Amino acid sequence: MSSRLDGRTALVTGSTSGIGRATAIALAERGAHVIVSGRDTVRGQRTVQDLRSGGARADFVPADLVSHRGARSLAEQALGVSGRVDILVNNAGVFTFGPTTSRTEADVNHIYNLNVKAPFFLVQSLVPQMVERGSGAVVNILTGAAHRGSPAAGLYGSSKAALLLLTKGWAAEFGPSGIRVNAVSPGMIRTEGTDGGAGLEEIAATIPARRLGDPHEVAPAVAFLASDEAAYVHGAILPVDGGAVAA
Ligand SMILES: NC(=O)c1ccc[n+]([C@@H]2O[C@H](COP(=O)([O-])OP(=O)(O)OC[C@H]3O[C@@H](n4cnc5c(N)ncnc54)[C@H](OP(=O)(O)O)[C@@H]3O)[C@@H](O)[C@H]2O)c1
Repeated sequence: MSSRLDGRTALVTGSTSGIGRATAIALAERGAHVIVSGRDTVRGQRTVQDLRSGGARADFVPADLVSHRGARSLAEQALGVSGRVDILVNNAGVFTFGPTTSRTEADVNHIYNLNVKAPFFLVQSLVPQMVERGSGAVVNILTGAAHRGSPAAGLYGSSKAALLLLTKGWAAEFGPSGIRVNAVSPGMIRTEGTDGGAGLEEIAATIPARRLGDPHEVAPAVAFLASDEAAYVHGAILPVDGGAVAA
């Protein structure tokens, strides 16, 4: 079984930054044609240039995934660019925190639209073609907050818990057609999105690894689940969290 992804096209949402960008690099290094996506065209083009300068095939498709239309349009454009999507990484996400009484309807809609509905509509749009070919892989990016309660993360954690259940539901639904659906559950990772997060270093000092993670330590786990090396792995949730799961 090979870790190589030559001949496959991977769409990575939210790959202009952080974990998504590192994942785009890891998939490209393994030979995939990567479709980079996000709202920020400057960061998107920069990521594509970096991948191309490493010899990879890469394209940028801008998308705002808070709307159903944005997700559908991204799926259509990705298929237009490459003719196929073999690997879908549902990484784009918003993580804001606060007590339940402080959250507005706009917060709820934003978090659920991006973290739950966008992956749902991307899978709905792209998996049927994978089913026709009899192969494909979907990797969803979760979070430790999807597995346990914490005072300020109920809304965010519940959105990723929904994606966790969708991971298992899709594994059951599409596995018999040759599509594997799995998830990576990162812990505290230093990215543009978490930069400046209050108290993160102190919390990280209490977990077995005793430090924050780097996006490039998450990306190989995504690449593994997307590859044939994980041919018998369906519906798995792989923590990449410095041992927070064990603490
Ligand atoms: N970092 C952590 O500690 C951590 C831990 C657990 C889970 N996670 C999860 O990992 C994923 C990536 O996190 P990160 O830390 O790498 O975040 P990040 O550096 O803030 O990157 C977020 C990515 O999502 C994209 N994005 C945000 N809003 C979008 C929208 N409306 N439409 C389309 N794309 C959008 C951003 O692209 P544009 O700005 O170009 O739109 C960016 O590429 C998220 O799902 C997050 O919940 C992160």
